[in-house]
This record gives sequence, structure tokens and C-alpha cells, in this order.
Amino acid sequence: MELFVAPSILSADFARLAEAAASVAGRPGTPGADWLHVDVMDNHFVPNLTLGLPVVKSIRAATEIPLDCHLMIEDPARWAPGYAEAGAHNVTFHAEATDDPAAVGRDLRKAGAKAGLALKPGTPLEPYLEILRDFDTLLVMTVEPGFGGQEFMAEVLPKVTEARRRVESGHLELRIEVDGGINADTIHAAAEAGADTFVAGSAVYNADDPAKAVAALRELAARR
Ligand code: DX5
Ligand code: ZN
Repeated sequence: MELFVAPSILSADFARLAEAAASVAGRPGTPGADWLHVDVMDNHFVPNLTLGLPVVKSIRAATEIPLDCHLMIEDPARWAPGYAEAGAHNVTFHAEATDDPAAVGRDLRKAGAKAGLALKPGTPLEPYLEILRDFDTLLVMTVEPGFGGQEFMAEVLPKVTEARRRVESGHLELRIEVDGGINADTIHAAAEAGADTFVAGSAVYNADDPAKAVAALRELAARR
């Protein structure tokens, strides 16, 4: 299983997003970010406001790194497909934000993106196991969504372990992504639990050399 590192630009300088993307791109001999994680918040689903479709379109034009859009918004049925049409590689929305997540997932795939389902820390995995068969990504939040720089919640990891078990047994076929509080001290536990895709915001963009931070996280995750 290939491990992915997805730096979250939430912790970057919003006036310099193209530079933020370039700073984690691969260089000869060093693989860079596999996905660029873009946190879309609408100040309704979460108590914070970040950026929306026009900014995602501009980032898409500014980098070759596949975009991983994490929609922390209400009414994803209405808004999510637009991110797929804008060229996002993976579009993840929250299970808590819609009563028909399976339909939103189908629409995302129809619009040409990979479909991701995100679960807040308090949301159980079991009710979604069947519909996850038609998703490409499961995003297990390891903090309450809304802000970067929060502390990792290890108590959420049993959901990662359970999802990994379902992948190993052939019931599911998807990436298992963790988001929130991932850094050099916590990534090992997430990897050991079975995550294969690691979002890191502050651990990457507060580092002196973001590309080095990405490489270091990848190495630590691979040591599980
Ligand atoms: C939080 C966001 C995360 C955030 C992670 O709601 O979904 O993607 O950027 O930031 P860190 O890595 O600093 O916890
Ligand atoms: Zn996120």
C-alpha cells in the first residue's frame, strides 16, 4: 500500500497559495506531496470560514499536485460536484452534512472526481460501511473539524483499525485518510492503526522547510 502525505494549506499564507503548493512539490530524488489538502469551510457546518470554488480553481491552475478538497460545508449535494468539475482529484464531504451521502458520492464520481466521505470524531463508522463500498476515500477526523493546530485524538483510531480490517477482508477498497493533529509524534500511531493517507497542516507549513517536513512524515509513517 502506497502511503500518501497531503499537506493542508489551511496553515499556509492565504496570500501566497501558489508558493505554498510549490513549497511541497517533489524535487529530483525527493517525492513531495501526493495530494494538496484544501479545507473548504462555510462558517455553518463548522465555526470557521476559509475559501471556496473560485480559489480552488485558481489553486488548480497553479499546481500539478492533485487537489484533495475537504468540504466542511452544509448541503454538499448542492455544492460538492462543482469542486469535481473544477478539477479536484478527490472531493470529500461530511457524512453528518447530508441525509443521502451515497447519492453525493455517485454525483462526485459522475463529475470525474474520486469520492470521499468524512466522519467527525464522534460519528461512528458502522452505519456507513455499506455505502463506503462506492467511495474512494474515507476521511477519519482526528480533531473536531474547523481549525488547524489542534491536538490529535488517539481515541478515534479504532475506526481506522476497523476500516483497515474491512479493506484487508475485501469488503472495502478505499484510501483511509486521517486529518487533524498529525505530526512527527502522532503519525506513527495513525499509520499503525491502518491509515495510508496523512493530512498535515501545521506540521508542514510551520516548519522551516515544508518539503523536508513532508519527507520526514512519510518516512515516519512507513516505519509502522
Ligand atoms: C481541520 C482541517 C485540517 C487541518 C489540519 O478542520 O480539516 O485539514 O488543516 O491541521 P493540523 O494538521 O494543523 O491539525
Ligand atoms: Zn481537512
